[in-house]
Amino acid sequence: MDAIEGVDLTGKTSVVTGGNSGIGVETVRALASAGSRVILTSRSVEAGEKVAQQLKADGVKGDIIVKQLDLADLQSIRRFSKAFKAEERGPDLLILNAGVMACPLSHTKDGFEMQIGTNHFGHFALTRDLLPSMKALKTPARVVAVSSRAHEMGSISLEDLHYRNRAYSAWGSYGQSKLANILVAKELAKRTEGSNVKVYTLHPGVINTPLGRHVYGESYLGSAVKLAVGILAWPWFKSPAQGAATSITAAVSPDLEAHSGVYLHDSQIKEPSKSAQDMEMAAELWAETEKQLAEAEKKLNL
Ligand SMILES: NC(=O)c1ccc[n+]([C@@H]2O[C@H](COP(=O)([O-])OP(=O)(O)OC[C@H]3O[C@@H](n4cnc5c(N)ncnc54)[C@H](OP(=O)(O)O)[C@@H]3O)[C@@H](O)[C@H]2O)c1
Repeated sequence: MDAIEGVDLTGKTSVVTGGNSGIGVETVRALASAGSRVILTSRSVEAGEKVAQQLKADGVKGDIIVKQLDLADLQSIRRFSKAFKAEERGPDLLILNAGVMACPLSHTKDGFEMQIGTNHFGHFALTRDLLPSMKALKTPARVVAVSSRAHEMGSISLEDLHYRNRAYSAWGSYGQSKLANILVAKELAKRTEGSNVKVYTLHPGVINTPLGRHVYGESYLGSAVKLAVGILAWPWFKSPAQGAATSITAAVSPDLEAHSGVYLHDSQIKEPSKSAQDMEMAAELWAETEKQLAEAEKKLNL
């Protein structure tokens, strides 16, 4: 992959959420190939280990350590970050890659709607937990949040983030969560201004990965539709490695050092939607997220 060519990450530690599938696998591959120690997080340790073994069999040189992390479970996030801080440095690179798309209405262990709960609340809690040790490094560190162009169809309902009092929309919820990723990244960039931590967010392109599982379902008809879409849209699809290239650019490109908070598409800085540049909303969403997390964590004695 061009984005990682000539980059030496020896001595660095990276965390990649959802490292067991799709774009995540190729992100782990690229970072570990450049010599980073990579903590591959996965809901299923078995699935993560399978990928780690394959990458090692492919000759990837950096250490790949698999750790269990379920972003739809605040106890799992706290368990992970506590152990991480005791055992590892930084991380130098925190890649918020995991995501769920357009699933039917369902809830995380803590009662958050699944898409905003996983894509936004889970990653927010993880970043909040790891940020102090990233800052303590005092050397350049980056947070990279994988958002989506789908943020353009999202809007934030601060009063009802979890669809408790409005009709659920699987795509509306995905758009809301991906818009939240950009707003939080911009607010975090503001809050870390002048520090060693830089923050980026991005659209990876359109890639045929298991992300679409809820769109097509598991029936024969769903599989047939998926195949047809795959054939018709083939010229526009990127490979998972091409999809990961924008995450890797965000993680390592020296050209971005002075541009914390930007949104990338095809490895280039692009303007996200107007809603994604609303810094008043970013601050309100940040405060609301902190409040809801504090309430949920109090119930769990975290
Ligand atoms: N593919 C695209 O065209 C596209 C376009 C725009 C944006 N994106 C974004 O790119 C990112 C990666 O997606 P992908 O295409 O590589 O999809 P993918 O292959 O389905 O990977 C998603 C990853 O997220 C993990 N995940 C889901 N729920 C989780 C949870 N509760 N806790 C921890 N991990 C969880 C999945 O774990 P399991 O394997 O256990 O389910 C998987 O490892 C996502 O954030 C997605 O929104 C993708």
